[in-house]
Amino acid sequence: MREHVSSFLILYGTGEGQTAKIAERIAATIAERGHEASAIDVRDRPESFTLNEYDAAIVGASIHVGKHQDEVRDFVTENRDALSGMLSAFFQVSLSSANEEKHEEAAGYVESFITDTGWHPDRIGQFGGALRFSEYGFLKRLMMKQIAKDLLTEERKPGGDVEFTDWDAVDAFTADVAAFVEGRLGVAPDMTEDSTA
Ligand SMILES: Cc1cc2nc3c(=O)[nH]c(=O)nc-3n(C[C@H](O)[C@H](O)[C@H](O)COP(=O)(O)O)c2cc1C
Repeated sequence: MREHVSSFLILYGTGEGQTAKIAERIAATIAERGHEASAIDVRDRPESFTLNEYDAAIVGASIHVGKHQDEVRDFVTENRDALSGMLSAFFQVSLSSANEEKHEEAAGYVESFITDTGWHPDRIGQFGGALRFSEYGFLKRLMMKQIAKDLLTEERKPGGDVEFTDWDAVDAFTADVAAFVEGRLGVAPDMTEDSTA
């Protein structure tokens, strides 16, 4: 086993912040295993940004009106060769993943992302998102009530924010990606209490 830690990039696009929250959780879980992990909003990446300094890349995007963030799609298309040469994973956040009957729809979004970008990540995660009614304007609120009517059961507070993300599924995905990278790079996770990553 190699002595030094691995360096993970978690690069994401987000509309209302749920993908950012998931990316931060993934970064924290990876850091707990003793690796370096940086969660970066694709819109905020510095000009000097390069994939070269990372061992593994996890890219995340959410779905708005059937599409991922253009910035994520463009980034992946432009960096496809570099990403293909690295250990990599993709995760998608959508309401479709929160609804059993719409899992095929969610899988369809992933498929078009792969077809459009030509990037084949080593691992793929699909997570339910959130409804942030408190942050939507009038039209968005109407539209989302319509889109999510199957999910808004009576016990949920009307008009309140609702989170559908299964955090155990996020943690399981992260553990799987981390174990895959550790195996490929021959790096042991440092799970000791006082590990400082
Ligand atoms: C305007 C709008 C359109 C959306 N369209 C879709 C959609 O077409 N399919 C879907 O599964 N989820 C859709 N969603 C749900 C989002 O994917 C979900 O709210 C997710 O948590 C957004 O993540 P973000 O906050 O990181 O952008 C939509 C959400 C909004 C606000």
